[in-house]
Amino acid sequence: MDFYKHLNYSLGNEDWCVEAQALRVNSGDRAVCVTASGDRPLHLLMTDCAEVISIDMNHAQNYLFDLKMAAIATLDYEQYLAFMGCTPSPHRYAIYKNTIAPQLSSEAAAFWASRKTMLARGVVYQGRVERLTNVIAKLLHVFRGAKIKKLLTFDDIEAQRHFVKTEWDTKALRKAFELIIHPSFSKHILQDPGLNSYVEFANKPGLYIYHRMLNCLNTHLAKKSALLQLVFTGKVLPDAYFPYLTLDGYTKIRRSTGRVNVVRGNIVEYLTKSEPNQFDCFSMSDIASYMPQAIFEALLRGIHNAAKPNARFCIREFISKRSIPREWQAIYKRDPLLEKKLEQEEKNFVYRFIVGDIQK
Ligand SMILES: C[S@@+](CC[C@H](N)C(=O)[O-])C[C@H]1O[C@@H](n2cnc3c(N)ncnc32)[C@H](O)[C@@H]1O
Repeated sequence: MDFYKHLNYSLGNEDWCVEAQALRVNSGDRAVCVTASGDRPLHLLMTDCAEVISIDMNHAQNYLFDLKMAAIATLDYEQYLAFMGCTPSPHRYAIYKNTIAPQLSSEAAAFWASRKTMLARGVVYQGRVERLTNVIAKLLHVFRGAKIKKLLTFDDIEAQRHFVKTEWDTKALRKAFELIIHPSFSKHILQDPGLNSYVEFANKPGLYIYHRMLNCLNTHLAKKSALLQLVFTGKVLPDAYFPYLTLDGYTKIRRSTGRVNVVRGNIVEYLTKSEPNQFDCFSMSDIASYMPQAIFEALLRGIHNAAKPNARFCIREFISKRSIPREWQAIYKRDPLLEKKLEQEEKNFVYRFIVGDIQK
């Protein structure tokens, strides 16, 4: 599938503060995660875990992670933000050529050598999802630029709730969500299995996501939600920077670059073939929304094989509807209260959670 050849994600859209509550990483733990935009392995490297195995079957995502790691290892914080594209810089490609490229594997360097424009523009907004949200944000700005600007000024949730109720929540915006996220339309603007292939949780996925957005705006300040800012402005404000883009995150990751191993391949196969009882934490992003139920069950068998007793898992879902078969429910001890809490606390408002411990 062509999807697994492109750089699809570059910024991230999952709240680490939420993920950390599910994974409860201890000093010395071994963790497995999905690479995607690299936020998961970078955030795991901010903990005291002993090792992170980061897997993606799309090598573009793994090369992005290599690039982010090399930038953190070789640039000071301000240069790092500028190189990533968070702050302005006319020298990104020169920085890449002189400082970062020598740190990369020949495969990763070959990959980036043919993507000069992406590097010059700043890779953090160059994933296909981030480029699409940039186009959507420009369109939405034409129709509700003043409202978007106002929404991002609120420091008081009560005032924001009133604004959302009286000015933000309109039939026109609702219809826009229904249209853009309807699979028969979305497949023409972004072929992404998570968006168009496994649309099982809601008959009207656009309306479902719209209401998740309203719920998020009644719970969290818009200026703290990276996903909301990405959709409505195409950029993320420092207040909503993911930890790997903060000075604290950069500093912690810079001390731990030797603790990660990147694997290109299918995570289901990797975990199924793994030696038993190897890992303490499983950060699976929303790959459950990228596979049918049968493959999801193979993923569950793989995690069970590779997991140590009491290992923690965090599995997200977008608009798919996966279930843990009855015969596995005693082994996958879910925490429904925590799942609800995380769903409410996640500021990137599109996820549901399957979290808990592995009983072995
Ligand atoms: C939905 S994305 C995660 C996006 C995430 N929210 C982000 O922004 O980082 C899922 C990622 O998992 C990868 N993926 C999906 N199924 C996989 C599998 N079976 N094995 C390995 N990687 C997989 C895709 O290539 C993609 O990079």
